[in-house]
Amino acid sequence: MQNVQFTVSPTRRLHGRVRVPGDKSISHRSIMLGALAEGTTEISGFLEGEDALATLRAFQAMGVEISEPDQGRVTVKGVGLRGLTQPKEDMDMGNSGTAMRLMAGILAGQDFESRLVGDASLNKRPMKRVTDPLKAMGARVETDEGGTPPLRISPSKQLSGIDYTLPMASAQVKSCLLLAGLFAEGRTSVIEPAPTRDHTERMLKGFGYPLTVTRLDAFRTQVSLEGGGRLNACAIDVPSDISSAAFFMVAAAISDDSDLVIEHVGLNPTRTGVIDILKLMGADITLENEAEVGGEPVADVRVRSSNLKGIQVPEHLVPLAIDEFPVLFVAASAAEGQTVLTGAEELRVKECDRIQVMADALQAVGIDARPTPDGMVIQGGQQSAQSAPIHSHHDHRISMAMAVAAIRAPQALVIDDCANVNTSFPTFVPLMNQVGLKIDL
Ligand code: S3P
Repeated sequence: MQNVQFTVSPTRRLHGRVRVPGDKSISHRSIMLGALAEGTTEISGFLEGEDALATLRAFQAMGVEISEPDQGRVTVKGVGLRGLTQPKEDMDMGNSGTAMRLMAGILAGQDFESRLVGDASLNKRPMKRVTDPLKAMGARVETDEGGTPPLRISPSKQLSGIDYTLPMASAQVKSCLLLAGLFAEGRTSVIEPAPTRDHTERMLKGFGYPLTVTRLDAFRTQVSLEGGGRLNACAIDVPSDISSAAFFMVAAAISDDSDLVIEHVGLNPTRTGVIDILKLMGADITLENEAEVGGEPVADVRVRSSNLKGIQVPEHLVPLAIDEFPVLFVAASAAEGQTVLTGAEELRVKECDRIQVMADALQAVGIDARPTPDGMVIQGGQQSAQSAPIHSHHDHRISMAMAVAAIRAPQALVIDDCANVNTSFPTFVPLMNQVGLKIDL
């Protein structure tokens, strides 16, 4: 990949309206469920980023007719649950853990061999969290030594449903098992220890697939489905990704004189932890034009400058903001006082170790950021001049979070290895430039 370096100038003022691209989680699932459905699924608002495109190419490689995305419009001619065909080559999931883990569930139920490969970052990420329960369902799926990709999936006689309690709050593992459950005999039931994003559940229902969701207590939810049903094609309007909107929310909150509206943002309650956390820190955030689109709540999110203060982040909000911590650490660095995050050890196995890498990056600009095994302690304060470029460690959200950190820097910040923003947010640079954060490539 070509090395793209960001040089980001400090700024005081961000103004205007932006619409960030479609939700990554919903975009992946729209292709997967559209491909497995009977009939034609029409998608609008599809995220044309490398991660979701990896999923799209994989299903094309398995014989599904899918149109080339055109301004977020994609047509998927579903082949039904039994209609996929063997790909001729390895399927490359690039940087995407979501693509690899969810696809593993679908491929475990096929009667052909397949192999899923990834990039340098994905090749370090743990896959036993999906392969162990898939094996318990009777799947034949192997990782490399160390439990990492590539994944080799061979046909098994017949998957059987399981009752499985997730050892960590992970929507990817939950979704993998529910997707495998479509191909299994009997009931597949997954208990999650804390609520995680529920797009798979909502979208399965949208495709007409029966499933039951039972709240067991204040934290735990059980999701169950019977294998062997059918999915009916539908229309999907993908809302803007709150995880991409988060960079604009923090940017507006930490600058001196800002007023930004981020339009049509998906506000599924399993994703809105970033808004709750920023509000606890004192951010001025209001919702306008609240509506519901395709079973998902959406609204325009208006953010104005505010004086943030440090907080102890409530642990129950961690899974609901899991992808937003790189930029929330930047918010904490600009806040008055101390912010403490605990219960977030999952951040260590994302596209990079987001605890260590963000602590290093913030320390490099003079912020007192102390990593802990499951979180971070940040003392908000003034940044100092940067000595060496910050490296993104193959992680799109590090590139974008540190670009936002430049707002409060004493001079332009230089961030190395930023081509990866294309995985989730290909228009990040022009949209930030449009509202007043100057990023030079
Ligand atoms: C995702 C789930 C989350 C998140 C990822 C997308 C999904 O991962 O970090 O970016 O679409 O299901 P975990 O569920 O493993 O925490």
